[in-house]
Order: sequence, then structure tokens, then C-alpha cells
Amino acid sequence: MPESDIRKGLVGVVADTTSVSKVMEETNSLTYRGYPVQDLAEQCSFEEVAYLLWHGDLPNAAQLADFRKEEAAARAISPALHQVIATFPRGAHPMDAIRTAVSFMGLEDPETADNSEAATWRKAMRLLAKIPTAIAAYHRAGKGEAPIAPDPSLGFAANFFHLCFGRVPAPEVVKAFDVSLTLYAEHGFNASTFTARTVTSTQADIHAAITAAIGALKGPLHGGANEAVMHMLKEIGTPERAGDWLQGRFDHRALVMGFGHRVYKHGDSRVPTMTRYAEKMAEVMGDRTWMEISRILAGEMLAQKNIYPNLDFPTGPAYYLMGFDIPMFTPIFVASRITGWAAHVVEQASDNRLIRPLSAYVGAAQRTVPAIAAR
Ligand code: COA
Repeated sequence: MPESDIRKGLVGVVADTTSVSKVMEETNSLTYRGYPVQDLAEQCSFEEVAYLLWHGDLPNAAQLADFRKEEAAARAISPALHQVIATFPRGAHPMDAIRTAVSFMGLEDPETADNSEAATWRKAMRLLAKIPTAIAAYHRAGKGEAPIAPDPSLGFAANFFHLCFGRVPAPEVVKAFDVSLTLYAEHGFNASTFTARTVTSTQADIHAAITAAIGALKGPLHGGANEAVMHMLKEIGTPERAGDWLQGRFDHRALVMGFGHRVYKHGDSRVPTMTRYAEKMAEVMGDRTWMEISRILAGEMLAQKNIYPNLDFPTGPAYYLMGFDIPMFTPIFVASRITGWAAHVVEQASDNRLIRPLSAYVGAAQRTVPAIAAR
């Protein structure tokens, strides 16, 4: 095969069909089950969006109430998992902690070996409910604090603050967080979703698929970018330094985190919504530094490189302003994306073909094994 036929990074390759979401290159836009993501973010709660991704349609009031009830009832994690989390090495990255915790949930789940569609949905619900509890337990263990029990009377977003900090912030902060969860929930055949589908294609279970997907999401070219963005903003420190700092990156032909996208080359439809909510967080917290630096970087990147920000660019400072430690940012992405991953796991399993691409060999020509004395 000529090397020019190889699609490195699978660029432009359409690997399968999906009815979960549509990523539109031409308009730089995204729909979940047909609804524009920015409209869902403004008008629906994350739970409604999770229901939509899993059931194909938005819930009515009774369906939403049942969904919320089921999710709230499954939030507690086992004493054994609490114990394991308490023994994780201090300073380990929370993404490694949640990857291990999800793998452990697979050991414990009563239906791990049942890959029927009904059992997979039940397992998906347990993962959705328990992942925030595990993330928060590790976060608190790292600070020497005891875990907090989930509060079933709180919605998904408010409960996450409760689990991490023992209090729920003002409604506009909870709304901004809820919006970020909706915007992060699903995104076509991105690297972690494709990983989940690849694992599912071997007929492995959903815990195996999600554990692998979390591994894929960790990298700074994927979900890890939201953390890298905040490290970058802190390194720059003040708006006055932003221009020189960026020039330094250009001089070294280095990446600027939170910019660029494999699919969206002319802007990402999720960014204006999240930027508005990040601006709101800056206003509520009375600290405009990060959004001011962001504004300068976005303007210069567009003017000089014609590269637009992606969703990780505004979520980084938004989460920081909400009070989350930087290593928590990508685990929050996990707490949201479990919805999209699960929808893809079920979709892959429902019409499965083992995912197994080819490679073009470029190593040594075939040769004879020499005796050890002759090597
Ligand atoms: N900073 C500086 N230059 C960038 C850039 C960035 N963030 N993103 C892309 N570019 C440049 C590339 O260097 C390349 O330039 P060249 O043609 O002179 O070599 C050009 O834009 C095309 O980019 P390419 O690397 O082909 O895009 P890709 O589709 O392979 O990669 C990303 C997409 C997301 C991996 C890439 O944009 C990136 O690394 N961004 C930073 C990490 C990030 O924010 N990830 C979150 C993704 S949602």
C-alpha cells in the first residue's frame, strides 16, 4: 500500500454510523440526537441531556423524575471502594484515581458479566451515579478530609459541589457547572469514545470500555487540555504578559493549549456559551484576570494563526473560578462524558463488528534468526 494512502491519526476516516450526535465540520456545530448543544445547555439540565443521549428523546416530567430518582439512589460507593481510595498514593493524579475506581466498580458490579443491553444500561446508570462520589472521595482524601455522603435531594451538579466541598454554591455557579457538563457530554468519534467503542467491539463489558476511555481522555491532546489551559493562564499570570508569552510560543513553534481542533477549523459552537458562563464566574468571584488573559490569547491566536479556541479553553478558568483544584478538571469531564460513552457502548454492541484496522509494515525485512553466539 502506498504511504500516501495511510490516514495517520485516522484523519478523515468515517469508521461507522452513529445516531448519538452529529459533528458538522461545515458549520462548526454539534447536535445531540438532533438538538443543537448550545440550546440544550441553556434550556435543559444535565440530567435531561443524559436521558436524551441514552433514550434518544428528551424526557417528559415523569420520565425525568424517575431518571433523577434512579440516579440519586445509586450514588453511594461501597465501603470497600472507599477503603481502596483511601489507600491510593497521595499526589497520584485524580484521573488515575478515577480510572482505577471505575475498574474496581467493575469488580464489584453484580452484572459485570451480563452484556445484555438492559444490563448495560443499568450498569451505565450506576457508573453515572457513582463516578462523582469516587472523584470527590479521592479529592478529599488528598486533603486529609473524610468523604461526604451524597445528598439524594440535590441534582447532579449541586450534589457534585456538596460531595467535594460540603456546601452548594450560588445557583448561578451551579448552572455554569451544569452547562459545562452538558457541553462535555458527547462529541462523536473522539479519541476516548472511539476507545470505548473499540473495547466494546471485542465484546468486553462496559466497565472495561469506560476504564479504557478514561485512560484515553487523560492525555493533554484530549480531555487533559482543560487542565493544561489553566496551568498556562497561571504561568502567564497577568494580562500585560500575555502578548510576550504568546510570541515566545510562536517563536518555538509550540502548542498553545485549548486552541485548535481536529474537526472544527473555524470555531467550536460550544465555546461562545461556555465563555459567557466563564465570564459570569469571573464576575461572581470578582476576579477578571483569567478571562482577560484568555481574551488576549484568543484575539492574537485568531489574528496571527487563524486558530480558534476549543471548549477546554473557557472551561479551564471557569472550573478554577468555581473553586476546583486544577487536577480535578479532567475528572469532571469524565463525570459528564460517561453519558456519551455509554450511549456509544450500547450503539456499538447493538450492531457490532470487531474494530481491527491494518498497518503497513516498515520494519526490517524478513531475516533468519542467528544463533546466540553469532549475534
Ligand atoms: N497551538 C499552536 N498551533 C496549533 C495548535 C495549537 N493549539 N493547534 C494546531 N496548531 C497548528 C499545528 O501546529 C499545525 O501547524 P502546521 O501546519 O504549521 O504544522 C496546524 O495548526 C494544523 O494542526 P494539526 O496538528 O494538523 O491539527 P490536528 O487536527 O492534528 O490536531 C489538536 C488537533 C486538538 C490535537 C491540536 O489542535 C492541539 O494539539 N491543540 C492543543 C491541545 C488541545 O487544546 N486539545 C483539546 C482538543 S478538544
